[in-house]
Order: sequence, then structure tokens, then C-alpha cells
Amino acid sequence: MRRYFTSTAAVLALMAAPALADDTALREQAKEVFEVIPLSGADIDTIVMTRDRIDLGAMLFFDPRISASGIFSCQSCHNVGIGGVDGLETSIGHGWQKGPRNAPTVLNAVFNIAQFWDGRAPDLAAQAKGPVQAGVEMNNTPDQVTATLKSMDGYVTAFAAAFPGEPDPITFDNFARAIESFEATLITPNARFDQWLMGADGVLTEQEKRGLAVFMDQGCSSCHAGVNFGGQEYYPFGLIERPGGAVLPEGDRGRFAVTETADDEYVFRAAPLRNIAITAPYFHSGVVWDLREAVQIMGTSQLGADLSDTDVDDIVAFLGTLTGEQPEVVHPILPVRTNATPKPNA
Ligand code: HEM
Ligand code: HEM
Repeated sequence: MRRYFTSTAAVLALMAAPALADDTALREQAKEVFEVIPLSGADIDTIVMTRDRIDLGAMLFFDPRISASGIFSCQSCHNVGIGGVDGLETSIGHGWQKGPRNAPTVLNAVFNIAQFWDGRAPDLAAQAKGPVQAGVEMNNTPDQVTATLKSMDGYVTAFAAAFPGEPDPITFDNFARAIESFEATLITPNARFDQWLMGADGVLTEQEKRGLAVFMDQGCSSCHAGVNFGGQEYYPFGLIERPGGAVLPEGDRGRFAVTETADDEYVFRAAPLRNIAITAPYFHSGVVWDLREAVQIMGTSQLGADLSDTDVDDIVAFLGTLTGEQPEVVHPILPVRTNATPKPNA
């Protein structure tokens, strides 16, 4: 009798959540949509990846003296020890001001088609010039940044090595290029999902595989696809149903500010989902702290689907498999200031 009940329960469980015994079919389906992060690193034609340039980029990324106050570095808001984010709803910058948007991760940002939630910067070099000058972030000027860098011997030498043959290597453009080269190293390969996609059976649990199947079958992957599970296309946030004003604040009309086209109102870049389990809080408003809730909101707002609790749990489990090996970054020793170095101006 007992045996009967056990097997009935097992059959019922199977019916409710079919085990995906055959990884091959699921893997083939997934390969049509997703790509692994190359173990060899990001290979982007336009980014020069010499050791000298990457090392200089790391120095600049960690140097708070490129902000007017001397307090904020890129690392302040994109902490590479906690997933490349600041873990705040919206970032705090110059003068303790609260900015309007959540800081997206810098990890794997090199794979995005364009940068920022609204894609207004075409690449990482263009992007890097933004925060330095933004009043709510670093509040500095290009001239002040180059004056600061030129005042320190360590930077004069590092720029000369990173941009060999250039008569005046310390420019704002080169500052941005070096940061871009460093950021291109901030990738997270070898996630369990990637291992599985490359053929390693057994690295994903049945629940994670069910989550992957639901993610594809429900249509999440129509927007979150490719190597970065997003970051490639723009869609209205609230395609089917607008989320509430806390999640989608009225004042931030997304890509509309970039293109000034009515169709782009409340349009945002489909967020990349690599490492999503470690980059809470979620959405450009940053008000959602629970990944479960973020998935539910996506279901209703983007798909018009009221996902079952099991589907949501399975998707969340699957998303956890997208956490890759975090880049081990050594905090660089930074050049010592001189009397010519502009003083912090808080
Ligand atoms: C966006 C890098 C400084 C807050 C981004 C993105 C990158 C980046 C690559 C786009 C990521 C994506 O779209 O997926 C940098 C670098 C910095 C820097 C290299 C130093 C030069 C800062 C600072 C803060 C900050 C100091 C906070 C005060 C943000 C926010 C966004 C963002 C809020 C999203 C803004 C929007 O979409 O409008 N950053 N960041 N960043 N960063 Fe930074
Ligand atoms: C953002 C998951 C379907 C477009 C997000 C985020 C998650 C997520 C977790 C937050 C990312 C972050 O804060 O870093 C999902 C899941 C889906 C799904 C599990 C299926 C149930 C879709 C679809 C579309 C879409 C079908 C396009 C029609 C977007 C956009 C954002 C986003 C535009 C950025 C929203 C913002 O500006 O804050 N998605 N998504 N998603 N997703 Fe989805």
C-alpha cells in the first residue's frame, strides 16, 4: 500500500513537472538562442587589449581622484567584488545626491550592443566619458581629469606605455579607451549554464532545466537571448501591461530621451541577465529586491502571462545558473599625488 502511494505521488510529481531526461533536445533548442561566454575572452575588433592598456584602465577604474570630490571611482558604483553593481536602488554620487537610475553591472557589459538602460552610449569608451561629467555621479570636467592625470608621474608613464608613439597620450579620449580595455576583461565565463550548453550533462538540476525550458517556451528568450541573455534590443517596458509607477516611474521615458520618437516612450534595452542572481535590486528603478518578483513582473508586463508559482521558482533557479566565474581583480597601486594635482572640490 505504502509503495502504491509513493509511486502515485511520484507519477503525479512527474505530471506536474516533467523531468527533462533528454538533455540533447533541450540543448539543441537552447543553442539556437544562447551563446556561451568565450573562455578566451571578449574579442572585439575595435578594442585594443595590450597588457599596458588594460593595466592603465584598471588604475583609472579604481581611482577616486577622477571625480571632482575625490570620493567616487567607477568602482564605487560598479563594485567588481559584488557583481559589478552598487547594490543600491539608485546610485549615490557627487554631494550625496541620489541619481535617477539603478547602476547596471559592468560585468559582461562589453557584449551589449550599446550602453545604459536606454542604450544612449554606442560603446564602452563613449560610455566612460559620461559618469565623469555627470553632475550626480563624478561632477568633473575633461580638462580637470587630464590635468589631474598629467600631474602624476605614474600616469604619465602608464599612458605613454598604453598609447605608444602618441605625442600627447594623456587625453580624455585615451582615458576612456583605457577604461574600455579594462572593462573588456570583466567577463564571467564558465557559468554552469555555459558548461551545460557545451555538453556537460549533470551540471544543471532538473529544476534548473525545467526553468530553462519555461524561459524559452514562455518567450522570455525572445528578448533575453544571445551571449548576454539580453543587452541587444529595445522593447517597451510594459509591452502588454504597464507595471505600477514605482517600478516604471513616469518621469523616466527611456529611449524617448535618446530618439525623441513617440514609439520609444518607456522603451528600454532588454536587460542582460548574466549574473542576475547577484545583482539585486532590479529594473532601472531598482525598487524590486526579489528576483522572484522581478520574474513575475516580467511575466505580466512583457508576456501577459500569469506565471504559476512553480514556473517562477523554476525560472529563478535557472537564472541562478547564469552566475559565472567572477573576474579576480587586484586593486592597483595608484600614482602618488603631487603639488600640481588639483585638490578635491567636494
Ligand atoms: C551605467 C561604467 C562611474 C552609476 C554604466 C555602464 C557602464 C558603466 C559600462 C553601462 C552598463 C550597461 O548599460 O549595461 C562606469 C565607469 C565609470 C562609472 C567606467 C567610471 C568612469 C559610475 C559612478 C556611478 C555610476 C561613479 C554612481 C555615482 C551608473 C548608473 C548607470 C551606469 C546609475 C546607469 C545610467 C543610465 O542608464 O542612465 N556605468 N561607470 N557609474 N553607471 Fe557607471
Ligand atoms: C528586465 C527577466 C521577458 C524585456 C528584466 C529583468 C529580469 C527579466 C530579471 C531585470 C534585469 C535587471 O534589473 O538587471 C525576464 C523573464 C522573462 C522576461 C524571466 C520571461 C518571463 C521579457 C520579454 C521582454 C523583456 C518578453 C521583451 C518584450 C525586458 C526589458 C527589461 C527587462 C526591456 C528592462 C526593464 C527596465 O528598464 O527596468 N527581465 N524577462 N523581458 N526585460 Fe525581461
